[in-house]
Amino acid sequence: MSETRRPLIAGNWKMNGLADESLRQMQELVSRARKFDNPGCDILICPPTTLLRELARVAVDSPVRVGGQDCHANASGAHTGDIAAEMLKDSGARYCIVGHSERRTDHGEDNTTVKAKAEAAHRAGLIAIVCVGETLAEREGDKTLDVISDQVTNSLPKGATSSNTVVAYEPVWAIGTGKTPTPLDVKAVHAHIREELGKLMNDAAKVRVLYGGSVKGSNAAELMAVENVDGALVGGASLTAEDFWPIVKTGI
Ligand code: 13P
Repeated sequence: MSETRRPLIAGNWKMNGLADESLRQMQELVSRARKFDNPGCDILICPPTTLLRELARVAVDSPVRVGGQDCHANASGAHTGDIAAEMLKDSGARYCIVGHSERRTDHGEDNTTVKAKAEAAHRAGLIAIVCVGETLAEREGDKTLDVISDQVTNSLPKGATSSNTVVAYEPVWAIGTGKTPTPLDVKAVHAHIREELGKLMNDAAKVRVLYGGSVKGSNAAELMAVENVDGALVGGASLTAEDFWPIVKTGI
């Protein structure tokens, strides 16, 4: 991890969590985090939207932030079942994930859609966590860096800066599978992302680039030690404070 970029350790709960147990887990995480006046990293939980306001309340005045997992490009309107970035902000969110591979696959979101969503997050005053990552077929076809270039170049909106945007590299084949790329592979992709960011914005050196995909307590330190890895986006291992805390500790 770098001296100049404050790490972000983020949990993406995906479609998991009912109120009672989720509140307990958040309370536990917040009470561990409160023991540090100023932890050396930002800590984030992106719960299902139904829990956002309540979890934000639990985390108030603590180092833990909450965020959304997706948003619509528009601020309001006839979009049944969708959530506007402004609604997430209104519920206490500080961040919003956009372009997660599960959204790209399950909902057919392409780079243009993701870019509009990142723009919406910015418009609402949220930090957009823009996800990119190659499939197994793309990796095996030696297309990883091309896919990443395309996603970074076309998913980031014009006004993206290091203050309103985080990039998360999540190889699709590593999500929920227990498989991770080697540190050397991660290093190569993160260096490539930073190079691509350099073509798009002036403060590319300050943008946080997270790694995501089967991060757990046992591999977090090794992954976080890789050059240009500025934190983690964690799925399964963020669902309980007990599993998430050892990962958070690598940033503290
Ligand atoms: P896992 O940590 O469960 O592999 O999920 C990663 C992810 O998709 C986070 O957004």
